[in-house]
Amino acid sequence: APAATETIERTLVLVKPDGVRRGLSGEILRRIEAKGYTLAAAHLLDATPELLAAHYAEHEGKPFYQPLVDFMLSGKILAVVAEGQGVVPGFRSLAGATNPTEAAPGTIRGDLGRDWGLKVQQNLVHGSDSDESAAREIALWFPGLGL
Ligand code: TYD
Ligand code: MG
Repeated sequence: APAATETIERTLVLVKPDGVRRGLSGEILRRIEAKGYTLAAAHLLDATPELLAAHYAEHEGKPFYQPLVDFMLSGKILAVVAEGQGVVPGFRSLAGATNPTEAAPGTIRGDLGRDWGLKVQQNLVHGSDSDESAAREIALWFPGLGL
């Protein structure tokens, strides 16, 4: 068990509708676990406009915002809480660059994603970008979990 002074680091991972549709959920979870992170919670759900408005509030008004929300409403999402030392930047390293064409081989987006010529980047996964974002997003996607 961690010493009392350590806090457990957690991040929110979403396998987006393209990842679930393409049957890549298992491969993505495999990479998280192979890296040594622990799965603390997971559920498959349909997002709602309200949930996505809160989740993506920082992007409201940007040209890709509405296509992004529509994409995130297009199918099931696998929401996951992963934990481990350094998991917030660590999962973003596993995910790779936002644009799957530019994402390095070896990353989830680089190995498994590509540009489909649509209005929004369908890049398989979301990962929180800071500890503060992670806490906010985990509360949104796992209400009542008390994490
Ligand atoms: P962002 O938070 O910048 O990227 P990341 O997911 O790597 O943290 O953007 C959120 C999502 O919005 C991103 O995963 C895909 C979509 N997006 C676009 O479709 N086009 C864009 O130009 C950007 C910046 C993001
Ligand atoms: Mg982001």
